Amino acid sequence: MSKKKRILTGDRPTGPLHLGHYVGSLKNRVLLQDEYEQFILIADIQALTDNFENPQKIKNNILELALDYLSVEISPEKSTIIIQSQVPELAELTVYLMNMITVAQLERNPTVKNEIRQKGYRENVPVGFFVYPISQSADILGFQANLVPVGEDQLPMIEQSREIARRFNSLYGQTFVEPKEMLSEVPRLCGIDGKEKMSKSLNNTINLSDSADIVVEKVMRMYTDPTRVRATDPGHTEHNPVFIYLNAFHDDKKEIKDFEDRYRLGKVGDIEVKKRLVEILNSFLEPIRQKRKEYEKDSHLVNSILKRGTEKGRAVVEQTMTLVRKAVKTDYFG
Ligand code: TRP
Repeated sequence: MSKKKRILTGDRPTGPLHLGHYVGSLKNRVLLQDEYEQFILIADIQALTDNFENPQKIKNNILELALDYLSVEISPEKSTIIIQSQVPELAELTVYLMNMITVAQLERNPTVKNEIRQKGYRENVPVGFFVYPISQSADILGFQANLVPVGEDQLPMIEQSREIARRFNSLYGQTFVEPKEMLSEVPRLCGIDGKEKMSKSLNNTINLSDSADIVVEKVMRMYTDPTRVRATDPGHTEHNPVFIYLNAFHDDKKEIKDFEDRYRLGKVGDIEVKKRLVEILNSFLEPIRQKRKEYEKDSHLVNSILKRGTEKGRAVVEQTMTLVRKAVKTDYFG
């Protein structure tokens, strides 16, 4: 029997997942779960690094995140969902890995650099936030992941994990798998305001848990072509969220092409295209809402999925930690 390669992915439980998450990662996870051994980490400890003043928010979002996963058909039979904080060995591993990297190396990490700037921390970066890439490396190495599906912006994290693994392995002997990135080719989905990225902090998302009415409301105020004043003006379809979403969520390419042609000629109004987009998005979201409702009714079931997943994941990290403690000679009592 061929051993499946292992994948680790994860999210911070800080808010509802949206269509951008679906296009950028969830869809891929649903496909990958058949071919790989997939672990999905609900990274609540990492979420606390920049939300430590608001732990209740993180706690509430753990269940919401699990519901998002389950509602898009990430299957608890095929994928293992883990709550990070319930695997304390990951924190233990983080401490050992801290010795494998310098402050200068961490400071060079472009992802963290960016986030520090965005958050306006300046000189007052909490240490926990500054070192979260080490904790993320512990996640990846603790699970002995072969592959980590990521977008471009997370590449430095994987590179750093690899460096840490190499350093550890060369100092103490072969202990960790060197992880590789699995770059997803899916383009980023723009926000309903046309901004490059759909993002909770930009308040421009359509969430997987949004009701049909909310989708109507959001699509109706969606940005389109600012150069077009009347429906009879020739319009632009590129960089136009309405058409970007149509292409991302509608299979009938002929119908899209027809809309695009007419839009460019000024022969169809925004409202007509938007009405069609509402139908398409709502028929995409409806089964997701239904599935979510089923799980919402049965919080026992969701809890037991999380409990089982966490136990299974913890057992994997425990195995890794047996090797690690031996390597760093902290296995005093055997
Ligand atoms: N940093 C990821 C995010 O912000 C979450 C995460 C934590 C993660 N640990 C991970 C992703 C390990 C992949 C592998 O969404």
